[in-house]
Amino acid sequence: MDIMEQELISEKIADSAANAPGRRRKKAHQRGRHGSPRKRHGTPDRIRHPLCPQFWSGESKSKLVTAALNKQIEDLDGRLYTLSDASHSFVSDISSANIDVSSGCREPYASSEMELVETELNAVKARVGGMPPEDWYRLTNYTDLASALRYSTKNDPNVELGTNAWLKFWSILHDFSQLADVPHGGSTSVHLCEAPGAFVSALNHFLAVRKPTVHQEWSWLGSSLNPYASDSKEAIADDRLIKHTLKNWHFGADNIGDLRLPENQLSLVKAARSHGKKVLLVTADGGIDCSDNPADQELSLSELKLAEVRTTLSLLDLGGNFVIKMFTFFRKKTCQLVQVLRICFSKVVFYKPSTSKPGNSEIYVICLGFKGLPAGTTFEFLIKKELEPALASELTSLAHKCADHQSVAIRMNLAVFTVDSTQRPRRSFHQAKQRFSHRFLTYRPIFALPNSARLIPMTE
Ligand SMILES: C[S@@+](CC[C@H](N)C(=O)[O-])C[C@H]1O[C@@H](n2cnc3c(N)ncnc32)[C@H](O)[C@@H]1O
Repeated sequence: MDIMEQELISEKIADSAANAPGRRRKKAHQRGRHGSPRKRHGTPDRIRHPLCPQFWSGESKSKLVTAALNKQIEDLDGRLYTLSDASHSFVSDISSANIDVSSGCREPYASSEMELVETELNAVKARVGGMPPEDWYRLTNYTDLASALRYSTKNDPNVELGTNAWLKFWSILHDFSQLADVPHGGSTSVHLCEAPGAFVSALNHFLAVRKPTVHQEWSWLGSSLNPYASDSKEAIADDRLIKHTLKNWHFGADNIGDLRLPENQLSLVKAARSHGKKVLLVTADGGIDCSDNPADQELSLSELKLAEVRTTLSLLDLGGNFVIKMFTFFRKKTCQLVQVLRICFSKVVFYKPSTSKPGNSEIYVICLGFKGLPAGTTFEFLIKKELEPALASELTSLAHKCADHQSVAIRMNLAVFTVDSTQRPRRSFHQAKQRFSHRFLTYRPIFALPNSARLIPMTE
């Protein structure tokens, strides 16, 4: 499998939700978000907004694309949402009386409103429907403001494994610089579901150019499905970094590395402890290709996300930080996982880096300041705790925002797709991409990696 194919697979992992042929449980277009009938004639102001469905049935497509593009430019620095403090939430055991357990679905939603948001989002995604994934990939690259930066980073000889994952973690490290704060004596970072290793490469680069003394004392351990031993279609075959750093990789007790198996979690924790340094950073970037069943992305990944959090809580030393990729969080089970994070960390921030394609559901949850588990509790106990209504409502409001941004991006892509190529606002896109790259590199400059810090020999 060549690198282009690999990148397409990585994009499919993130983008599969955007190809979802959505399940239409309810006629969402007949109702407003809050269950009330939606006004047929919105005010002119609302219609001018790309979040309004009527917007897309109005003027010429190229004008609409430009308007949606301008909306996207508002997010040049990525999007952030900090959860409110959890200090009071753990104390009381909340009854399930306020929690919606919709009948007829395998996993209950966190609230009835969440079900509606998912239905509406799936209806937009369904319009992508039968489009061949390669065409959609090409189109979303054309419209994605980060694509010029992505291209130059990939071809930059000073960047090792300069994939989109590299750029996303580069953003995260700059925007949350405390992730790379390490006390004297060094520390180990552990990277779950990390093949082919671009997060490790970005962290190595960041420390080498920004914190050379920390870099000297830093060690790392990566874990993933073993590309040399796993038959799983989810194993990433790109070993450009792995083959040069094999001693830093741990593929579980069975050497295959499925993190969902408790024995693999345990053996990884032991391997990390054997470094003899504190573990102050864990990343978990697990994803699988859900393009066969895109509407079920959240459910298909829930076991892996659970495993990532469970392993992290055993790995981290107090004060440590955790970065986990999540997708949607419509279901109660996913929200309960977020609740565990909020209980165990001082601060929890949802962050969509500007280099993450706006049409997909992926979002990073940045958890700062590990407090440990409350005395006398275990992960198994915490994960079963009823979802606090205040958190459910906070997450519902966040889900609305994420779904709205995603819908605008998908609608814009669809509009571009139907516009004759000579009519596409190429100039606007070109200028927006230049502006994006310039802004990104002003705040997150990519200085050359010293040869002595390289993970992959120069000759490769
Ligand atoms: C998006 S990729 C990670 C990219 C990586 N962070 C990087 O920067 O290069 C997702 C990874 O999750 C891994 N994965 C999927 N299911 C897994 C499982 N059950 N156990 C361990 N790893 C898994 C895949 O093999 C893949 O390497």
